[in-house]
Amino acid sequence: MKVIIINGSARKGNTLTAIEAFVKGASEKNEIEIIEPDKLNIAPCKGCGACQCSKGCVDKDDTNPTIDKIAAADMILFATPVYWWGMSAQLKLIIDKCYCRGMQLKNKKVGTIVVGGSPVDSIQYELIDKQFDCMAKYLSWDLLFQKSYYATAKDELSKNQDAMKELEDIGKDL
Ligand SMILES: Cc1cc2nc3c(=O)[nH]c(=O)nc-3n(C[C@H](O)[C@H](O)[C@H](O)COP(=O)(O)O)c2cc1C
Repeated sequence: MKVIIINGSARKGNTLTAIEAFVKGASEKNEIEIIEPDKLNIAPCKGCGACQCSKGCVDKDDTNPTIDKIAAADMILFATPVYWWGMSAQLKLIIDKCYCRGMQLKNKKVGTIVVGGSPVDSIQYELIDKQFDCMAKYLSWDLLFQKSYYATAKDELSKNQDAMKELEDIGKDL
């Protein structure tokens, strides 16, 4: 499969660690590309609606090439730190910009990884999972997994051997 991973964190921390564990398992059998929104030049959605009647977004930045990659993927992995009880702005930026070609994202296989500084029974993970549940229903996604992890310091998740193995196994089992 072609797997696109959207990394919602700008720091080389827990979200990246989680992504790398997943990639370790998944890379043998799949073609993988990681999108790093903070390294791209993407303006936020203006809600102009022009995209609904023309080809893609009117912004002449990295929006359309990025959405091309997402639309061409068989699977999308959304990975994000928890920021203020929700996904990060970096990830939400990309999701909002997919509005112009939302229907091209129908029927994708999808996974989510969320890392937050509070224990995984806290409300934020449920809120984020529910938001993805709604998107999945709307776009007929095959939601393969939704994983939440608790880690605060940059290198904390890498010390969680159970989490590392779980993510590698998820990647292997794709
Ligand atoms: C702006 C900001 C807001 C945050 N808000 C929350 C929050 O609401 N709930 C939570 O559990 N952790 C919160 N955190 C902690 C991060 O989710 C946590 O440190 C995570 O491991 C960061 O992932 P990273 O290392 O990939 O950047 C916040 C961190 C930042 C920088």
